Amino acid sequence: MNYDTKLLDSSKKSVEYAGELIRQGEVVGMPTETVYGLAANALDPEAVKKIFIAKGRPQDNPLIVHISRMEMLEGLVTEIPELAKKCAGEFWPGPLTMILPKRGIIPYTTSAGLDTVGIRMPSNKTARALIDASGVPLAAPSANLSGSPSPTKAIHVYNDMNGRIPCILDDGGCAVGVESTVIAFEGDNIRLLRPGFISVEDLKTVCENVTVDKGVTEAVAADAVVASPGMKYKHYAPKADVTIIDGSLEDYRKYCAENADKETVLMVFNESDAEGMGLKAIVYGCDSKQQAQKLFDVLRQLDELNIKKVFARCPKKTGVGLAVYNRLLRAAGFQVIKL
Ligand code: TXA
Ligand code: MG
Repeated sequence: MNYDTKLLDSSKKSVEYAGELIRQGEVVGMPTETVYGLAANALDPEAVKKIFIAKGRPQDNPLIVHISRMEMLEGLVTEIPELAKKCAGEFWPGPLTMILPKRGIIPYTTSAGLDTVGIRMPSNKTARALIDASGVPLAAPSANLSGSPSPTKAIHVYNDMNGRIPCILDDGGCAVGVESTVIAFEGDNIRLLRPGFISVEDLKTVCENVTVDKGVTEAVAADAVVASPGMKYKHYAPKADVTIIDGSLEDYRKYCAENADKETVLMVFNESDAEGMGLKAIVYGCDSKQQAQKLFDVLRQLDELNIKKVFARCPKKTGVGLAVYNRLLRAAGFQVIKL
């Protein structure tokens, strides 16, 4: 692994070049509406192995397979429940991954030994063009080194993957900013395994019974049997010691005034949240959508600025806010102060 990594635009020419690399069994940095991905031919175990190596990803964490057309789905899974069709109709193309029983054509390297596979049809035009140019479904995890925040800009991918992959397609900042919602089907129920832009409230418009997996808001033991292997891993961890402060703005300010030291940085919704406190502040957005878009970039900045300690205002836990909370909770190693 010693590539001269090219940072390319997302023109037709670049996409065709990247598609050719994928046909040759290489791994390419791919923009999507959620986060950047590391894409390879999902049907080629040797190509998929290169993804795990580039990321330093544990072998037992399965990859999501990306498609560009509904017809591709039937060739990859043995069964498409009515509810899955409904979800696809409502939310595809877009940031929703559905766990379905896989066909033999999907190698166990891609599904990490599972008999199911996560499938998603992205809405990002460059991602779709790359799938079409490659002519195959693309396995793609987030394009960060394992343990780093997911990349929401091409430069994040470059910083993590320089030398590890041949090229990255740059399509600007990701519109959503957090990874796709992951769901599984259990009879007439939808089980939410990972919250994302498609919220519980959105899912309830197609299905009455939506259950949220415990792992979404609680720590999972390293040896636990989980529905989604990704839940076990300590994700998105900045070097800083992050604590989430759950309470009103007034309570937050009071807590910070009493407990912050000179090194503490406040991670807030608006600059005014930290006004007059004499402490450094980083703004991560005044509503859940903005917070989703900026969160991973802010987590990377904490490391770049060598910040040691952070008191973060707690995001809302509804709508897209649940996805923001879920990611921040992991970045904080589940340290929450409830006021
Ligand atoms: O938005 C996204 O989903 C991005 C972009 C690139 O599409 N991809 C992404 O992939 O976030 P990754 O590998 O970082 O996260 C995939 C998550 C993991 O938590 C994994 O455990 C879970 O999906 N997953 C994948 N296949 C699964 C399966 N068959 N059963 C249960 N969970 C699965
Ligand atoms: Mg990831």
